[in-house]
Amino acid sequence: MDTASGAGHVDLRPDDLPDGLVIADRLGLVVCFNAEAARLAGQPADRALGRPIDSVLPLEDPDGRPWWRLTDPYGGLATRSGQPERNLLLPGGREVLVAARYVRSRPGGPVRRLVVTLRGTDARKRTERSNAELIATVAHELRSPLTSVKGFTATMLDKWDRFTDEQKRLMLQTVDGDADRVTRLITELLDVSRIDSGRLEIRRQPVRLDDAVRRQVKVMVNGGCRADRFDLRFADSVARVWADPDKIDQVLVNLLENAVRHGEGTVTIEVDRVPPTRTRQEGMAVTVSDEGPGIPEEAMHRVFTRFWRGNDRGGTGLGLYIVKGIVEAHGGTVTVGRSSGGGARFRFILPAGTPAFLS
Ligand SMILES: Nc1ncnc2c1ncn2[C@@H]1O[C@H](COP(=O)(O)OP(=O)(O)O)[C@@H](O)[C@H]1O
Ligand SMILES: [Mg+2]
Repeated sequence: MDTASGAGHVDLRPDDLPDGLVIADRLGLVVCFNAEAARLAGQPADRALGRPIDSVLPLEDPDGRPWWRLTDPYGGLATRSGQPERNLLLPGGREVLVAARYVRSRPGGPVRRLVVTLRGTDARKRTERSNAELIATVAHELRSPLTSVKGFTATMLDKWDRFTDEQKRLMLQTVDGDADRVTRLITELLDVSRIDSGRLEIRRQPVRLDDAVRRQVKVMVNGGCRADRFDLRFADSVARVWADPDKIDQVLVNLLENAVRHGEGTVTIEVDRVPPTRTRQEGMAVTVSDEGPGIPEEAMHRVFTRFWRGNDRGGTGLGLYIVKGIVEAHGGTVTVGRSSGGGARFRFILPAGTPAFLS
């Protein structure tokens, strides 16, 4: 039978495994060589079966020493139960992660079966490559404001007497703005690193999203935005969400600033209830829409990625990545779309009500 057959028994086919699986019998002869093992080792199963495992998989450690001779599964310590995962090389220099288990009939007895798993390192290589790319991007992002700071300070120091006070003030204002930009970039990068490493701390307490929106709009207005740019529409009954108020403020600030800076016209902020479904509990949603140019259809799937910027209005491209990280750390979701006025529409949903352990 192909599927689970009652009584908790699953008929597992080795070829279904995402990892390579090689099993040798008590003599060290290969009795199982699954599809992924064949792919990684670059040889078909029928050529491996029945042959000694050390000749089928001539693994070497990074110093070029033969791994089977080093570990000696059949002749080594009888108390050993296997080998932890290690990075080894196959002939031709292909890297694989290898782990082994020694199956014995009784503790201390001879090895009855040797089970080896192989895993490709492509995924890890990709991560390493994307980390390198990230560092390059960050260095680049930091260099441009610092180049400007250095340029202006060097010019002023060099020709101090030749500039009027007004010219010096202008240069200092640029330096001041660039310094702010570097600080902001670093603050946001620290958030990104917390999100990426799963260290984002969420201190939950009851939060009313309508109050939070009202407060952040007031902050924007105090900061120089016209009050009539904002249109608030709140549902009659707003349920509390169990959330970190500072983090929710951060999400709102990002979305409101984006709507004002990248969008145009009236910014509509709605807070409404999302009824429960079979798979999701009741939620509260906040929708921020504007009447600007919106996000091009082909770029919508990229707005939440790090450093993506659709225009050159001085942003870092990290805001929406942080928004998504915070919302998801709360067990919520965030989406982007087009508003009825043609602009961008961002909507996030947070689970409503108190968590089970408090009710
Ligand atoms: N309301 C909006 N209208 C149009 N484009 C937007 C809007 N919000 C975000 N964007 C686009 O998404 C990009 C990424 O946004 P974000 O991650 O907040 O970075 P930043 O605001 O620092 O540029 C912006 O550069 C902008 O091109
Ligand atoms: Mg932004």
